[in-house]
Amino acid sequence: MELGLKGKVAVVTGAAHGIGAATAAAFCKEGAAVLVADIDGPAAQRTAAALAAGGGTAVALAVDVTDEASVAAMVQVVLERFGALHVLVNNAGFTRDKRITRMPVEDWDAVVDVVLKGAFLCSRAALAPMAEQNFGRIINISSRAHLGNPGQANYSAAKAGLLGFTRALALEQGRHHVTVNAVAPGIIDTDAVRRLPHFEKVREAAEKTTPIPRMGVVEDIADTVLYLASERAGYITGEVVHVTGGRY
Ligand SMILES: NC(=O)c1ccc[n+]([C@@H]2O[C@H](COP(=O)([O-])OP(=O)(O)OC[C@H]3O[C@@H](n4cnc5c(N)ncnc54)[C@H](O)[C@@H]3O)[C@@H](O)[C@H]2O)c1
Repeated sequence: MELGLKGKVAVVTGAAHGIGAATAAAFCKEGAAVLVADIDGPAAQRTAAALAAGGGTAVALAVDVTDEASVAAMVQVVLERFGALHVLVNNAGFTRDKRITRMPVEDWDAVVDVVLKGAFLCSRAALAPMAEQNFGRIINISSRAHLGNPGQANYSAAKAGLLGFTRALALEQGRHHVTVNAVAPGIIDTDAVRRLPHFEKVREAAEKTTPIPRMGVVEDIADTVLYLASERAGYITGEVVHVTGGRY
C-alpha cells in the first residue's frame, strides 16, 4: 500500500528510545524526513545518526516537551531545516507508579505534565504550519492504561485525558484537513518495560492473558502510527486505535 509519506516531514517526541525510535525509523523507511526530539539529547543524536547512516533523513534535537520555549524552538528548527511540518507524534512519556496513598505530588505532576502539557504545547506549536499547509496529522500515544490500572492513577488519568484532548482537537482542526487520532498500546517490549523489577511476571502475564499470546513489539505501534499519518487515513479523525493484541 502506498502511504504517500515520501517527502513528508514528521516530528516524533521521545524518539531517542523505544516506540518513538521505531516510529522515527519507520517514517525514514517511507522516505519522510524526521526530527528526533527527546529530552535525552545525546541519545537523540545517536538515534538520528543511526537513521542517517541507514539512508534516512533524520535530525536530532534536545527538547523538553513540557517547556514552552523548548517546544517553540523545536518547531522553528523543523521549519528551518525541512520547510514544512506535516506529522506530529506526541510520544514522550513515562510512568511513576505508586498506590495513590503513597504517591507524592511530584510524581502526579511529572506524569500529567509530560503526557498532557507536552501534547498540548507540541500540538499548539505544530498547528500553525499545519493549518497554513491545509494538511496535518497529529497522533497521540495514549495507553491501554487509560481504562485504569492499579498503581497508575497518575498515568491512567493522563492517558485518558489525552483521549479527550484528541477528540477536542479533531473537532477543532478538521476544517484545516488536520486529523488527530490516538494509539493506545498494550504492553510493548521496550527498555522502559524491561527495567520494571517484575518484568518477567509482566511478560508471562501478557503471554497468558492476551488473545494474541505475546507482548507487543515496537513495530506494532510504529506501523499503526504510519497508517494514521498516511494519505490513506485522511477521513479518520478523533479515533483511538487499541494495539493490545486484543487485551482490552
Ligand atoms: N512500552 C509500553 O508498554 C507502552 C504501553 C503503552 C503506552 N506507552 C507509551 O508509549 C510512549 C513511549 O514509551 P516507551 O516504552 O517507548 O518509553 P521509553 O522510555 O523507551 O521512551 C520514552 C522517551 O521519552 C523521552 N522523554 C521523557 N520525558 C521527555 C520530555 N519531557 N521531553 C521529551 N522527551 C521526553 C525519554 O527520554 C525517552 O527517550 C510513552 O508515552 C508511553 O507512555 C508505552
